[in-house]
Amino acid sequence: MIKVSHLKKSHGALGVLRDVSVEIDRGDVAAIIGPSGCGKSTFLRCLNGLESFDSGSVCVGNVTLSRDLPPDVQRERLAAMRRQMGMVFQQFHLFPHLTVLGNVMEAPLRVLGANAKATLEKAEQLLDRVGVLAKAHEKPARLSGGEQQRVAIARALAMDPEVMLFDEPTSALDPSLMQEVLQVLQSLARTGQTMVIVTHDMAFARRIATTVHVFGEGTVQRSGPPETIFCDAEPEVMLAPVRGNRGAVRAAMRHRVRRYKH
Ligand SMILES: Nc1ncnc2c1ncn2[C@@H]1O[C@H](COP(=O)(O)OP(=O)(O)OP(=O)(O)O)[C@@H](O)[C@H]1O
Ligand SMILES: [Mg+2]
Repeated sequence: MIKVSHLKKSHGALGVLRDVSVEIDRGDVAAIIGPSGCGKSTFLRCLNGLESFDSGSVCVGNVTLSRDLPPDVQRERLAAMRRQMGMVFQQFHLFPHLTVLGNVMEAPLRVLGANAKATLEKAEQLLDRVGVLAKAHEKPARLSGGEQQRVAIARALAMDPEVMLFDEPTSALDPSLMQEVLQVLQSLARTGQTMVIVTHDMAFARRIATTVHVFGEGTVQRSGPPETIFCDAEPEVMLAPVRGNRGAVRAAMRHRVRRYKH
């Protein structure tokens, strides 16, 4: 479903992604973890064409992006790539002037030119699915953070994306509001939705992911099922040894992991 090969991306002299290769199958829930600043958000943005890259390729479904394409072909492919992806950000990014329902209906109506009645019905179903149908006619500012994030998820789902990308979807939320969003993500995973989730929440990554990819030093340091990445024998760290910079990755994560120890 997704194949990223030898992706490289720099910001000036800073090599953010030095050589990233990742494969994600249809129906997989891929959790991306790694220290702050290691390029996780940059990777997601390269994946959905929000950011250009220096070399390598990104293939999603039957659309491939690479640097050496003529500009008009690249533009077409970027549009096709974005069409396949739904993205949910840390800071919700809802349209403040539209109601909750308006937010969910906006893209299907404007981008796809979908039928108004069918779009309304679908939007109501999606809001019901994420548990915020009662707020359909409110503006986002009147909703809690957890409710806003669930609207953002419904809005992304309204375009029937092949892949849902999440960039730290709960890190702007109080712990009490995180749970309701995490539950929505878990129910989405159970439907077989292909998902890529950047998270610092180790306990959640362990629970939801089919594969965990540990980023560090501009590369993927380790990939595997949660039980091989997180080590039961070391509950205070949970991370199994990471090749290369195990000390750095462990140190950056230790304080976050501790929050989930009971
Ligand atoms: N537009 C930009 N211009 C210059 N440097 C940038 C830009 N965007 C990101 N960077 C740098 O690239 C590096 C990777 O950033 P990125 O946001 O991808 O990290 P991250 O792994 O998502 O971190 P976090 O866990 O804190 O969200 C950082 O050092 C960041 O400062
Ligand atoms: Mg980030």
